[in-house]
Amino acid sequence: MSYPEDLRQLVDDHLETIHFSRGAGPDGADTTGLDEAMRYSLLAGGKRIRPVLCLATAKAIGRDPEEFLVAAGALEMVHTYSLVHDDLPAMDDDDLRRGKPTSHVKYGEAVAILAGDGLFAEAIAALAAVPAPPDRVLEAVALLCSATGVEGMVGGQYIDVSAPALDAEGLRHLHSLKTGRLIKASVEVALALDGTDGATREPIQVFATQIGLLFQIVDDILDVTGSDEELGKPQGSDERHGKVTYVSLYGLDRARSLAAETHDQALAALAGAGGQTEDLKRIADYIYSREQ
Ligand code: IPE
Ligand code: IPE
Ligand code: MG
Ligand code: MG
Ligand code: MG
Repeated sequence: MSYPEDLRQLVDDHLETIHFSRGAGPDGADTTGLDEAMRYSLLAGGKRIRPVLCLATAKAIGRDPEEFLVAAGALEMVHTYSLVHDDLPAMDDDDLRRGKPTSHVKYGEAVAILAGDGLFAEAIAALAAVPAPPDRVLEAVALLCSATGVEGMVGGQYIDVSAPALDAEGLRHLHSLKTGRLIKASVEVALALDGTDGATREPIQVFATQIGLLFQIVDDILDVTGSDEELGKPQGSDERHGKVTYVSLYGLDRARSLAAETHDQALAALAGAGGQTEDLKRIADYIYSREQ
């Protein structure tokens, strides 16, 4: 089964319509350049896994994916912000992303930092304006913010840059924060906006936790086995920076078998969920077998 390209197209078409700046004011102040930098990274291409997951979750619970496009776009904006900052000289110091020069290479560090900040804030503003019952919108906003925060992506990045000597459990925890929380939130935001009840949410949430972990195991493997061209980002970045990864800790073979086990566990969880889960399964298969 293949990746749900129809959902990816919906996401890409929606993202294309987003503009952040009002342009030059009568006083000459102009944020057009910041808008350009934000859109440069957002529209550079990318697999769109998080927004596609949000739309596939909407389908699984019997909703029209198009109603969830603004939320999906917000998830991709937060993800893109995390990439822009991840690549900065003070972080991974990488110069290639999504097959193009990274934001700080093209626009300079100051603008790259602001582009990331801007993408995060605009994502929250967009999600907060979704026309759904206020309690559901508030829950979705809270989910996205906590998945991004200290016990989420940012906390995971902090542990990553602090370079502690991690054991297996520590690495799993790091991955669950750095990558897993935002992937899980991509599913949870759709469930929250729908008002899905707790019992129905549970198997899809377990599925989301597993594919979040799977995603970063595969990312660690591809950092070793991929190429700059396939990945659209510099191969070997983890090793150059002495990062603890699934490959450095377990070796390539064991990392691959852990990926296979995690993929199985994700599908087992999904089997317990009702509804039209075909696209969610397609995404899990893609995350497991991707080469980019
Ligand atoms: C890369 O994410 C960063 C990690 C969380 C490992 P993706 O591999 O989803 O990047 P894009 O969005 O396709 O560029
Ligand atoms: C970073 O992990 C994940 C983010 C929160 C952006 P990596 O540093 O492994 O991501 P890549 O490999 O540069 O995409
Ligand atoms: Mg990093
Ligand atoms: Mg990186
Ligand atoms: Mg990586």
